[in-house]
Amino acid sequence: MEASPFTITKERFSEPPFCLHKTASMKGMILKLSRSLTRAVPLLHRSIHIRARPTTVSKLTSEEIYAREEKHGAHNYHPLPVALERGEGVYVWDVEGNRYYDFLSAYSAVNQGHCHPKIVAALIEQSSRLTLTSRAFYNDVLGSYEEYITNMFGYDKVLPMNTGVEGGETACKLARKWAYKVKGVPDNKAKIIFAEGNFWGRTMAAISSSTDPSSYKGFGPYMPGFELVPFNDIPALENALQDPNVAAFMVEPIQGEAGVVVPDQGYLTKVRELCTKYNVLWIADEVQTGLARCGRRLAVDHEGVRPDLVILGKALSGGVYPVSAVLSDNEVMLTIKPGEHGSTYGGNPVACRVAIAALEVIEEEKLAENAQRMGELLRAELRKLPKDIVTTVRGKGLLNAIVIKETKDYDAWKVCMRLRDNGLLAKPTHGDTIRLAPPLILKEPELQECIDIIQRTIMSF
Ligand SMILES: Cc1ncc(COP(=O)(O)O)c(C=O)c1O
Repeated sequence: MEASPFTITKERFSEPPFCLHKTASMKGMILKLSRSLTRAVPLLHRSIHIRARPTTVSKLTSEEIYAREEKHGAHNYHPLPVALERGEGVYVWDVEGNRYYDFLSAYSAVNQGHCHPKIVAALIEQSSRLTLTSRAFYNDVLGSYEEYITNMFGYDKVLPMNTGVEGGETACKLARKWAYKVKGVPDNKAKIIFAEGNFWGRTMAAISSSTDPSSYKGFGPYMPGFELVPFNDIPALENALQDPNVAAFMVEPIQGEAGVVVPDQGYLTKVRELCTKYNVLWIADEVQTGLARCGRRLAVDHEGVRPDLVILGKALSGGVYPVSAVLSDNEVMLTIKPGEHGSTYGGNPVACRVAIAALEVIEEEKLAENAQRMGELLRAELRKLPKDIVTTVRGKGLLNAIVIKETKDYDAWKVCMRLRDNGLLAKPTHGDTIRLAPPLILKEPELQECIDIIQRTIMSF
């Protein structure tokens, strides 16, 4: 068959974005991947012509890329000016060929590193076999994923969705149903308590629980039945939970978007005790903190406590596909009957294969242990920075933040711009805070280089 510009040929599989860059440790996986690609290529040739290179992608400069997005895209984000075209492991490259350490990891979605070969192989292999059946029919992958993830985390059942915020919506729906069917809350009276400073996405329900005006202002009216208590405040929580109509308390073990706010040691244990005492479900939003990010499989594992519902997302696919999930036991899960909740793409075969691979990588490469060790080293070094510039260092595992004391000469944004110029990408959150969250595969020599960059950058102010 003659290759048109839109046909994926075997040669084109060896060009970016399909090629995988080799490191010694990746060799075995590359071999495996190339075997699956060899199987996949004839399949692709037989049936389809795919636009391997969309016509809108051409070699533009960074400035041209910013201008094009500005012109044609909604202005709902304020990106740091850097235009990326490639990622591998802990690195990303911009269109001019400059290499950076990625210290955001797509808000903790890329825990396993960019384009992890095992996860990409799962994506490619499954997407040439069966991509989507909807849940109108069974498929041969969903069950194996359900079995894998529930065994791994020790819950009876999983409900698969796509984005993190859908995971949160799902958990809220499950909690309300459970309140009516099991707890005996009168119809339409169920309440869910959230912690101030929470962030769980951008849907109407998510912004209705938000205390951040940039999330909720101008989008009312809001979802009823949501109440707030201060984060890390046990007496306030106990007060709220005494209301017999409370179905659930939903909380992040560490508040990520609020600026990596770490509660007191023992807070989660108390949350568990109170939720049990008042027959309220504890929903742990582990979309950002989970999957090894904080130095344990789940952040709640630091206190050895078990939430009634766990929401996962982001790194559940290692950044290659939107995959989210809610884990819980039968008493909660089986309150929802066929037709009462779902999503066309939720639990599709590609998502399931990708998620199994992403979870396997977390275990095989001991990412939680590495995050714990690298995080301790990172914070110890960051604490040596001058206190009149970096006033606070906090975090767990590789979810960390520094707080920059703003002056007329510099602020967190300017620090991030200079970090970028020095080869490290990070993003301010809430004005004065910079999150430092690299992929969890970061090795010690790389971490040392990153610490040098951060020290050099801070000292240059
Ligand atoms: C804790 C937490 N929950 C939920 C979400 C929403 O995830 P998504 O953006 O995939 O909808 C986020 C996103 O940053 C998050 O940090």
